[in-house]
Amino acid sequence: MADYELHEYDVIVIGAGGAGLRAAIESSALGAKTAIVCKSLLGKAHTVMAEGGVAAALANVDPQDNWQTHFVDTMKGGKMLNNWRMAQLHAQQAPDRVRELEQWGALFDRTPDGRILQRAFGGHKWKRLAHVGDRTGLEMIRTLQDRGVHQGIDVYMECTITHLLKDGDRIAGGFGYWRDTGKFIVFRAKAIVLATGGIGKSYKITSNSWEYTGDGDAMAFRAGADLIDMEFVQFHPTGMVWPPGVAGLLVTEGVRGEGGLLRNSKGERFMWKYLPEAARKDFAADEKESTEWVNATLEGRKSDARRPPELSTRDNVARAIYTEVKEGRGTPHGGAFLDISYQDPERVKKKLPSMYHQFKDLADVDITAGPMEVGPTTHYMMGGVRVDADSQMSTVPGLFAAGEVAGGMHGANRLGGNSLSDLLVFGRLAGVGAVEYAKAMKSSPHVDDGQIDTAKKALLAPFEAKTGESPYAIQRDLQEMMGNLVGIFRTESELKAAIGRFPEFKARAAKAKIEGSRTYNPGWHLAWDLNNLLCISEAIARAAFERKESRGAHSRLDFEKTEPACAKFNVAVRQKDGAMTVVQTPLPEMPADLKALFEEKK
Ligand code: FUM
Repeated sequence: MADYELHEYDVIVIGAGGAGLRAAIESSALGAKTAIVCKSLLGKAHTVMAEGGVAAALANVDPQDNWQTHFVDTMKGGKMLNNWRMAQLHAQQAPDRVRELEQWGALFDRTPDGRILQRAFGGHKWKRLAHVGDRTGLEMIRTLQDRGVHQGIDVYMECTITHLLKDGDRIAGGFGYWRDTGKFIVFRAKAIVLATGGIGKSYKITSNSWEYTGDGDAMAFRAGADLIDMEFVQFHPTGMVWPPGVAGLLVTEGVRGEGGLLRNSKGERFMWKYLPEAARKDFAADEKESTEWVNATLEGRKSDARRPPELSTRDNVARAIYTEVKEGRGTPHGGAFLDISYQDPERVKKKLPSMYHQFKDLADVDITAGPMEVGPTTHYMMGGVRVDADSQMSTVPGLFAAGEVAGGMHGANRLGGNSLSDLLVFGRLAGVGAVEYAKAMKSSPHVDDGQIDTAKKALLAPFEAKTGESPYAIQRDLQEMMGNLVGIFRTESELKAAIGRFPEFKARAAKAKIEGSRTYNPGWHLAWDLNNLLCISEAIARAAFERKESRGAHSRLDFEKTEPACAKFNVAVRQKDGAMTVVQTPLPEMPADLKALFEEKK
């Protein structure tokens, strides 16, 4: 008798953040038998950590805005490495996805005449972020969850998928276990949508919680898919730096969008020093112009003042804070000061209620009375599974990916707010793509017992180990190494050293020893997740080694320039003969009508 339960679906969605929920809603609405499988509780997703807003050219506050400008901003923010077609679909479809969300019950903040309110964010030319105070991701998850549950989608919560199953080249299903009982479970499915989010737990200081161990990227890689752009890890400039227990927790970019100012320990507005020459013209020339922009924003009036330098792109602001601290101009706890206390306290509490409570409750700091201390935190993975822009199918037939786990959309650096719009646009497209694929399949895939047996053995191995270390010790050392050798600034020698340490890490992980039984055992869960963390960490280090230039979030101290020739390829990581290989693959050529938009914007 089989020692696993078996379920059959047309489409399985792995992950229940915004992308997963949106994909499942679409798949089920199109008549496919659909389930969501998630390793955490439904609604507990990193989506809620996109606090400040969802980017969409609704043009409610700045009527000049349109999808073309959003497209250009996104490509420029991504340093032209984005998949142009994804950036185009995203900019064109985001407004409809936001309006749809509103129809489904999301309660956005309002303009005085009752339209969805939009705020400024780094790298966006116009006020473009539709928001709900500083809880936008949370409101989106609540809305999508309600919609999905009422649509009758089956949900398997606290259920981890560890292996993708294949029938020849095509996807056949997934194997995993229930986190509470440790019992095995198998899904047979014609199509699978990966929506597992990011990789933050490869680093110690991160805005991500325990779930983000790169599961989707690693499973796709092992199933034969390409991963692209893995060298581009986003360090959000503003996480909490103190107290230590909450270091890395996100401080929304919405603070700067509402006029929050960055200063070093000498009281200097240091961001002016770090503006790239080419972008300087987009920003306020001095304190006077910056103050005029803030005052106009507070009063809701039109002004020609350009935005403050704090609203530069995230890669730039993160490097600036890191450099200020390294050069001895940091705050007492090793960050920069972020100050919004010069504004009316009631306005601050209304616009940024979560930030107010977060600092009051966790750090005993009243942000209406004094500055916050902030520093970079690992927030988002730009790279991920290579997908077809229109259908979101990976290079493995039947395997789709949407949201953070998919690569291509954001290029070398993501603009804030583009993650929430990404997951709505591409979650929906992945749902459509998966259903179309599943409907075209004449027969159900065959699930092979051999693959299930191999998966079971791999999962149970830590119970056999007689000697060895705790998986927590291995994860801690990995995080330390990634922070030290594959962090914000990189060099060839450090990357080489990091790559050289993976054989040792893998040997330690293979012998990881755990206590207890299969009944709710987080140590056992981490022993498995370590395989994924090691796989994607190695992919990051190898891709970073391959890209011999600085671009967006990838800063090489030994190759400081952005090289035009390097804008022509993605670094792809794939499996060949059981080993991880790295290749450069050409970027798709942008059509002339889209290229022309950059000329017009000049
Ligand atoms: O700062 C923030 O609110 C995060 C937004 C995002 O990552 O898109």
